Amino acid sequence: MSTSAQLRDALADRLIKDGTLTEPEWSSAARTVPRELFTGSYFVPEAGSVPTRYRPVRQGAPGWLEGVYSDKTLITQLDGRVRPDDVLEEGTVTGSPSSSSTLPSLVLRMWQRFGAKAGQRVLEIGTGTGYSTALGAHRLGDGDLTSIEYDPVVGRAAAAALKEATGRFLPGYTSFMIARPHDRPPRPTPALLPGEERPSRIDPAKLDNWTGGWVAQLAAPSAERMGAGAEQVLWDVSTGSQARTAPNPDGGWTVVQRGPVRLWDRVERAVRCWQAAGEPHQEGFGITVSAAGQRVWLGTEKGPGWDLPI
Ligand SMILES: C[S@@+](CC[C@H](N)C(=O)[O-])C[C@H]1O[C@@H](n2cnc3c(N)ncnc32)[C@H](O)[C@@H]1O
Repeated sequence: MSTSAQLRDALADRLIKDGTLTEPEWSSAARTVPRELFTGSYFVPEAGSVPTRYRPVRQGAPGWLEGVYSDKTLITQLDGRVRPDDVLEEGTVTGSPSSSSTLPSLVLRMWQRFGAKAGQRVLEIGTGTGYSTALGAHRLGDGDLTSIEYDPVVGRAAAAALKEATGRFLPGYTSFMIARPHDRPPRPTPALLPGEERPSRIDPAKLDNWTGGWVAQLAAPSAERMGAGAEQVLWDVSTGSQARTAPNPDGGWTVVQRGPVRLWDRVERAVRCWQAAGEPHQEGFGITVSAAGQRVWLGTEKGPGWDLPI
């Protein structure tokens, strides 16, 4: 099955080939903006029906994503109120289309013909799903583009979609604390204090694997990691919580934890989850950024995930 990024690239390639996309900045917008974030579920007209009947294509259903990148206008509302997900039973409905996502080739052609350039301020009337708005914001910057929509339901859905972004990590070595612009502040060597001991359910050396360490970082973002191999030490300076592992002479490993945050419980759960998924490298993960927060997920957006501290 093709991914959203592959389908987006294929659509952009088609639009370049047929002469629709002539400007690299708009090609880049077409390759970047995920249309499915804006369309969600949509209606397709049943061929030959009179009056026209519409079949809901629900988000995630077979063929849904391919339909999103089919360069067709996608109807997202009928009669000013009926959305595809409102149609409960399997089947079709009649009605008059009242909101839609215009076919990408037409939206992109309009933007290009309009000739707006970075630095200019633009008012778009009729946000609809927000797809054209997102393309424009990619090119012009979101501070210079204002879009208005008079249907409150459509407007709220577009605003929510415009404030959210989701995508997969590329193969590579993205980390978060790496963004820290300064060296670690001086601190005393931590005194390792007694705590509750139990067997560890993971091999602590998994944290030496780059992705394993990254998963641990997602699970316990405020903890600092010291040590290596079977002897890992996690220390959360803000709460004083500690965890340290050691090889068990009888086989396996033990962990000692103390403090209000059970650091190893969190790390262990996350690492086991990653192991159950086959220990994928970073491209097995994605991130969703919304007004509510930033969530890194494993596999799919609905899969297990970890909220990043903001
Ligand atoms: C065809 S849709 C989609 C437009 C979207 N810009 C696109 O290219 O996909 C038009 C949208 O404009 C909205 N609309 C129509 N007249 C409007 C007006 N006078 N003021 C604000 N929104 C309006 C409708 O509610 C509808 O959601």
